[in-house]
Amino acid sequence: MKIVTVIGARPQFIKAAVVSGKLCRVGKEILVHTGQHYDRNMSDIFFEELGLTPPDYHLGVGAGSHARQTADIMTGTEEILLKEKPDFALVYGDTNSTLAAALAASKLLIPIIHIEAGLRSFNRAMPEEQNRILTDHISSILFCPTDTAVANLAEENIKSNVYQVGDVMCDAVLCYADQVRHMDSACFKEKLACLFPWKGDLSRWYLATVHRAENTGDICQIGTVLEALEELDAPVIFPVHPRIRAYVERLHKECGYRNLCFVEPLGYLEMLFFISGSIKVITDSGGLQKEAFILQKNVVTLRKQTEWVETLAGNHNILCSIRKEDIIHAIYDTDITLEFDQNVFGDGNAAERICKVLCTLSDGKRKFFE
Ligand code: UD1
Repeated sequence: MKIVTVIGARPQFIKAAVVSGKLCRVGKEILVHTGQHYDRNMSDIFFEELGLTPPDYHLGVGAGSHARQTADIMTGTEEILLKEKPDFALVYGDTNSTLAAALAASKLLIPIIHIEAGLRSFNRAMPEEQNRILTDHISSILFCPTDTAVANLAEENIKSNVYQVGDVMCDAVLCYADQVRHMDSACFKEKLACLFPWKGDLSRWYLATVHRAENTGDICQIGTVLEALEELDAPVIFPVHPRIRAYVERLHKECGYRNLCFVEPLGYLEMLFFISGSIKVITDSGGLQKEAFILQKNVVTLRKQTEWVETLAGNHNILCSIRKEDIIHAIYDTDITLEFDQNVFGDGNAAERICKVLCTLSDGKRKFFE
């Protein structure tokens, strides 16, 4: 079996790192990097840290409007698919790279494997929600991380070739968090000392990130989040996504925040270290919400909905609007009512199960476009 895998954004590098290593048992994988994320800290660092093989093709599409980015990825992927003639195209998640590659494959009648299928926020204004729905509806094999995702697909009448295998991101967290625990913590401590130059208490911090389009469109929203974080009772480590870099620089110049440690986007291992040691995580990222939950940290999510509804049980994840008082209240005044449900995202063997299913397909020569 020959599979062309298309990835392009930060979370996809992490997911591919756990799946790609195992795919060689199923067949030959050709890896395509679309270049949607291209800064070193948003891309190369993940290949190096997680041992992901360098891509066979790099489309170098870079930044652009949604249509431009999607179109460039489609044409680039189409060329590769025509040349490689794979049995399947494999995509992850909900980014523009996911949808564009899926569309290119679908038109060439190449069956699509979608990993992380069935997630829904039920907010069609989100580009990611549009990408998810469209990709699921043209996919042939759908690997869901949770029972909720399977139920969401059933509601949309997608019922065949749907497999609940657990979450590949959970595989990654469990595997690499263990690695981080066994690493010499000196390198992380050094980083902490640089982050907290006032040499205060280096043992307590919050971790915060913001990058979603709905929260980053105007500088006032980002300013509100930063104002709330500035008032917290411990420093806040804030890796700055390139999407908001210019706004953060401007606000910092005007307001001179003293409680916020702005850093370049962190590598995955550093991120796991900083989540594990944090008091709480404040974010609008889908992946980070879940990583925190798996590492048993409470989260405040700066959104109206979450696809990962399982994290809401027991108030481990609180959804919060972008209002200063609401953010501070959500961080301080939430009663946790339940223990963390350890297994809700799987047992760390999702990639293994995916490969088992794919092995049965390669034996069976099924037809997907009839
Ligand atoms: C994308 C995904 C989102 C995912 C996130 C992970 C879509 C629609 N959204 O959002 O689902 O959670 O990635 O981070 O695909 N930029 C750089 N350097 C980079 C990458 C981006 O400067 O390495 C800038 C570009 O100017 C771009 C902006 O950041 O305009 C936003 O990048 P984009 O590719 O639109 O998506 P993300 O916001 O990262």
